Amino acid sequence: MSNIPTPHITAKEGDFARTVLMPGDPLRAKYIAENFLTDAVLVNNVRGVNGYTGMYNGKRVSVMASGMGMPSMGIYSYELFKFYDVDNIIRIGTAGSLQPDLKIRDLAIAMGACTDSNYAAQYELPGTFAPIASFDLLRKAVDQAEKMGNVGYKVGNVASSDVFYSERPTMEAWQKMGVLAVEMETAALYMNAARTGKNALTICTISDSLVTGEVTTSEERQTSFADMMKVALEIA
Ligand code: HPA
Repeated sequence: MSNIPTPHITAKEGDFARTVLMPGDPLRAKYIAENFLTDAVLVNNVRGVNGYTGMYNGKRVSVMASGMGMPSMGIYSYELFKFYDVDNIIRIGTAGSLQPDLKIRDLAIAMGACTDSNYAAQYELPGTFAPIASFDLLRKAVDQAEKMGNVGYKVGNVASSDVFYSERPTMEAWQKMGVLAVEMETAALYMNAARTGKNALTICTISDSLVTGEVTTSEERQTSFADMMKVALEIA
């Protein structure tokens, strides 16, 4: 534990729970701590990336933002896994749908993550790497969504893109391969989990559709956010 505090996290040893929920947005993390957890305590606030640890139904759970993009998720998830003894990270984010039958408000549960990033180059593998979710967390998330009954969800690949404003219309190529949705963090999270022997899962609400051009209203975002939170907190 001599590596803590890290350059990006000033929490002390034991401040984080074994499971950390990671939204992209630091204000989301604050909202979750204040509305879904009890007895939440602030454990990190470097760069405004507030991290909290509190209780949910008798379980100790943490929540801290990942920031946007693979470099940011790469830093925070690595430090949590490697230096803070965190075992499970569940990303709770938003994604853009690439498939006509994955509607806005539905959940995309990421079994795997494709990427246009060069993140895996550091491992010097003699081929490509397939970043995948923890099967245990994935199974629990699906069971929980089924139990809730009225949750629209799909399980499959997401594409973690490095570029939000792209010069090239690359999404069609992912679409043809059956990739469910595009976001910007999961491949780094899954690779860090693989490298550190830990567990990770991404659950995203579909905030917009690249097929139909639809975007969610703020009311729809709240409903789907509540479903995603319920799934994540129950399996945490
Ligand atoms: N692209 C990348 N990330 C996203 C999107 C998108 O269209 N929607 C939500 N997160």
